Amino acid sequence: MRLEIVDLHVSIDSREIIRGLNLAVESGEVHAIMGPNGSGKSTLAYTLLGHPRYTVSRGDIRLDGESILDLSTDERARKGLFLGFQYPVEISGVSFSNFLRNAYNIMNKSYQDKSREVFLTVREFHDYMKRQIDVVGLDGSFLARYLNEGFSGGEKKRSEVLQMLVLKPRFAILDEPDSGLDIDAVKAVANAINNFISKDTSVMVITHYARILRYLKKLDYVHVMANGRVVRSGGKELAEMLEEKGYGWIEKEVKDD
Ligand SMILES: Nc1ncnc2c1ncn2[C@@H]1O[C@H](COP(=O)(O)OP(=O)(O)O)[C@@H](O)[C@H]1O
Ligand SMILES: [Mg+2]
Repeated sequence: MRLEIVDLHVSIDSREIIRGLNLAVESGEVHAIMGPNGSGKSTLAYTLLGHPRYTVSRGDIRLDGESILDLSTDERARKGLFLGFQYPVEISGVSFSNFLRNAYNIMNKSYQDKSREVFLTVREFHDYMKRQIDVVGLDGSFLARYLNEGFSGGEKKRSEVLQMLVLKPRFAILDEPDSGLDIDAVKAVANAINNFISKDTSVMVITHYARILRYLKKLDYVHVMANGRVVRSGGKELAEMLEEKGYGWIEKEVKDD
């Protein structure tokens, strides 16, 4: 699946946040998006999933050459887009395991992808979830709870990547999956991303820190966002450079243009 973002402009309440962003992600690639607070990273993530508050005023978002701007969030998810939230929400009354099983089965129907396993019984699906839950270091009891309800910050982040592992989207966007986590949790999240990476999946990791990126088995590009645009792209070394120098120099460059 190829994702192409072309000259994207996005506003919220008529204030322009994304201001001419270009980015292309191919199947199998892992991209990191870094950048100071308020540079528009989460806005980009929400816009890719079609959050109704974010208005695309110019440009396009294409999956395999076709614009998805007219598609609802639900339709985008059925095409294989997934968002792991920076601030996961608690959904009381929705059990984690029922949510995952329903979502998984709906995705199976919409993809028609022969490589996806079909689970005929609740028990079979449960065994499958249990295998994935070990990867993120949560215990099985979480599956019986309501989605994210009462989870700690770290458990919520693990829950987001668990959803990714179980649902097997084609394109996962993870918005700061490492923020607020201790080192063991960061490793668990990186481990989950590593298990997800394949030649048929793409990953976009939004982060402030080189740390989680160091644990990834594959990292093709690092992009730096400032002021609603990608101002610099490079490889791993760009993340290390940011870790060392911070973002100050980039803000200076942006002011100059
Ligand atoms: N729902 C919203 N309503 C109003 N302003 C918003 C909203 N979401 C984001 N913004 C503004 O858009 C800018 C970019 O925010 P965001 O995309 O969250 O940045 P980042 O994720 O890079 O920290 C910020 O100035 C923020 O205040
Ligand atoms: Mg953000």
